[in-house]
Amino acid sequence: MTQNENTLSFITGNKFKFREVFEMFRKMKVKYDLIQKDIKTTEIQAETLKNVALFKLNSVRHKIEGSFFIEDAGFFVDIPLKGFPGIYSSYVLKTIGNKGIIDLINDFDGSVAHFSAVIALYFNPIDKILFFEGMIEGKVSETIRGKGGFGFDPIFIPNIIPNKTFAELSIDQKNKISHRGQALGKLLEFLKNN
Ligand code: IMP
Repeated sequence: MTQNENTLSFITGNKFKFREVFEMFRKMKVKYDLIQKDIKTTEIQAETLKNVALFKLNSVRHKIEGSFFIEDAGFFVDIPLKGFPGIYSSYVLKTIGNKGIIDLINDFDGSVAHFSAVIALYFNPIDKILFFEGMIEGKVSETIRGKGGFGFDPIFIPNIIPNKTFAELSIDQKNKISHRGQALGKLLEFLKNN
């Protein structure tokens, strides 16, 4: 299929992520039409999200026409877990889950956690790979709270909205402050100018 030059593909199988990204694209008027492509990428166990993102991007590069991006995120409990689960976030969510993380923490008020996100964009017009990053700090919630969002959202309380977990925010509220929202803001700024 030949792709319109104003089409931008987001490679993800995660419908929640796509929804968040789609909402931001809808609001910021850019000339690109966003489409979801659920193509399997190869995930490696690298030291940094940026390297994971780059590897994923390269693993599907030959399968996609035109510009496309992938996004890789992680949940890091800096205190007391020294950054765990971090790059192991998917595996930890599938195994011990949110309850398992809570069980590892004694002092919730003293906990420090953050989400990081990296977007890797293959931008066809200049045949280059570009990165856009975002990060948000907060702490771990003592209980699993909220019905929105996905993944670790019900146990993350952002510092700037200290009475709510991410899962208690609307998509718009989360997008305004989140790691992904910040990375996307930078991507959209780039797209506006290119
Ligand atoms: P991924 O590799 O970027 O898909 O994310 C790694 C893990 O972190 C997955 O288990 C996701 O569910 C989780 N995750 C990624 N982004 C978020 C988020 O915005 N909120 C909560 N969990 C997330």
